[in-house]
Amino acid sequence: MKTPPMLRQVAGIAAFAAVVFVMVESVIVQVEAGYVHEQLGGCGPVRALVLYHPSRDARFGDDLSLAVARGFQDAHLRVDRATMTGDTPPSPAGYAIIAVVSNTYYWTPDRPTLRYLRRAHLEGTPVIGLMAGAGSTGRAERILAEALRATGAQAVETRSFWLLRPNDESRPHESNRALATDLAQSFAAEAAHKLLP
Ligand SMILES: Cc1cc2nc3c(=O)[nH]c(=O)nc-3n(C[C@H](O)[C@H](O)[C@H](O)COP(=O)(O)O)c2cc1C
Repeated sequence: MKTPPMLRQVAGIAAFAAVVFVMVESVIVQVEAGYVHEQLGGCGPVRALVLYHPSRDARFGDDLSLAVARGFQDAHLRVDRATMTGDTPPSPAGYAIIAVVSNTYYWTPDRPTLRYLRRAHLEGTPVIGLMAGAGSTGRAERILAEALRATGAQAVETRSFWLLRPNDESRPHESNRALATDLAQSFAAEAAHKLLP
């Protein structure tokens, strides 16, 4: 049976609109945010910094960055959080440990993260990297680890956290997103205990 021309036209317009939407979305999510530096508090004199590129849709990267901040606070650190932009200092001074939270776009860490890490000098500072994504983050996590090592960071640990792929298959009845933030908080606390004197 032949498809009526009207239906073909509607399908063509819908396909075109979908392609345009994907193209626009791909550009928007990579646009650098404004530079924001927040003091999130915590006890003790030792300071930690969480760097992130704000995610646009489900705010997953933002949630992970706050979970990391809670993890550092659990480890008795005083925490600041800042966006990765052209104005972010290349060598943030006074921090005992730094976390970098990046989003996966097309199997690669987001551009603001890579742009910042290319000019960052984090010599002597332990750094953890969190790769946020829907579920396919292996390549992006490897690229993030390489970019973090290239900054001269003293020690580098990375881990992926997912929106769709199960973050912990042994806990199938819990919200996957809540699991991701729980695990990110523990990852940060454990890394601080392990990497700091
Ligand atoms: C254009 C685009 C490409 C994406 N590519 C990947 C990908 O290759 N692998 C993956 O695991 N997730 C991918 N994602 C999902 C994002 O990594 C995930 O949604 C991310 O954490 C951003 O957070 P948000 O959804 O809160 O904005 C992609 C999302 C968009 C919009």
